[in-house]
Parts: sequence; structure tokens; C-alpha cells
Amino acid sequence: MALKTLLLVSVLAVLELRSVAGGHHGRFMPGSPLNISRNDHGLQQVVLTTTYSFNNQSNDAFLFKPSTIHRAQRQIVKGIRYIVDLEISRTICRKRDHNNNLSKCDFQPEGRLHQTFQCHAEVWLIPWENQTKIQVFLCKA
Ligand SMILES: *[C@@H]1O[C@H](CO)[C@@H](O)[C@H](O)[C@H]1NC(C)=O
Ligand SMILES: *[C@@H]1O[C@H](CO)[C@@H](O)[C@H](O)[C@H]1NC(C)=O
Ligand SMILES: *[C@@H]1O[C@H](CO)[C@@H](O)[C@H](O)[C@H]1NC(C)=O
Ligand SMILES: *[C@@H]1O[C@H](CO)[C@@H](O)[C@H](O)[C@H]1NC(C)=O
Repeated sequence: MALKTLLLVSVLAVLELRSVAGGHHGRFMPGSPLNISRNDHGLQQVVLTTTYSFNNQSNDAFLFKPSTIHRAQRQIVKGIRYIVDLEISRTICRKRDHNNNLSKCDFQPEGRLHQTFQCHAEVWLIPWENQTKIQVFLCKA
């Protein structure tokens, strides 16, 4: 009984906190996208996932990997949604060598094979389902 009451009280407290937070300026509202650190664990997972997806879909002879992250945001919506603007550049590793460690692949030097794409990705992680859903992934040269 005491436990039940305690739970109810804490639920009410959370609800109250939400309505206070939601009632004012947008930047404190739960659910709006907020900038996150480049070291965020989930962000690194998202960047890896989009890189695999890029390499899987490209017909290029070489593997690409991320070279710059311009924007990294996180939004709480039934899981965590990441919004990332990044650059993906061609490395010297050939796909046919099946190198599975991109950190060993250097970028192509300036020249004919040097190429970078500007990409925008929105990826939704649902940790309790172990799900990663790429909602948007667009790249342009
Ligand atoms: C690569 O893409 C193919 C279809 O284009 C898909 O069947 C396969 O599961 C993908 N592999 C990975 C590792 O994403
Ligand atoms: C969030 O990051 C973007 C891009 O890095 C930057 O332009 C913007 O000012 C940042 N916003 C806040 C509130 O820090
Ligand atoms: C990939 O290579 C780097 C640098 O050689 C190494 O530090 C890292 O442990 C390797 N990662 C995997 C998963 O093998
Ligand atoms: C998610 O993955 C972890 C570790 O890979 C596993 O222990 C867990 O059972 C998985 N959960 C679901 C819901 O698949």
C-alpha cells in the first residue's frame, strides 16, 4: 500500500514537472531536438549505422567513412531520435578487401579519387526493442 502511494506520488511529480517544463519557452520542452556531444555513445552508433548503410548502397569500389559532423542533435520520442548532418569521404580501402575496421582506412589524398558527400540522417533508436531505424538518409556530392 505504501509503495503504491509512493509510486503514485512520483508519477504525479513527473507529470507536474512535464507540464511546468512544457508550459514555457520551447527550448526546455521535453521532446525538442537538443545539441549533443560528438562523443555521445548513441551518436557514434548512429554514425556507424549510416556509414554501413552508405557503403552497402554505393557501387563505389572504395569504402567511405565519416570525415566531419556538422550537426548532432538528439530528441526523445518513444525512444531516441538522432538528427545528424555529416560529411562522408572516400577512403583508400577497397570494398573487395572486406576490411571490417574502418579506423584503419585513411582518406583518399587530394586528387582524382578524393570525394566527399554531404549527408543528412535521421535515425531512431528504440533501446528496449534493440531497434535502429533509419528514417531519413540523404547524401549529395
Ligand atoms: C545491403 O543491402 C542489401 C540490399 O540492397 C540488403 O539485402 C542487405 O541486408 C544489406 N546489408 C547490410 C549489412 O545492411
Ligand atoms: C547547435 O549546433 C548548431 C550546429 O553545430 C549550432 O549552429 C547551434 O548554434 C547550436 N545551438 C545551440 C542552442 O547550442
Ligand atoms: C580497429 O583498428 C584500430 C586501429 O588499429 C584499433 O585500435 C581497434 O581496436 C580496431 N577495432 C576493431 C573492432 O578491430
Ligand atoms: C537486446 O540485445 C541484448 C544484447 O545484445 C540482449 O541481451 C537483449 O535480450 C535484447 N533485447 C531484445 C528485446 O531483443
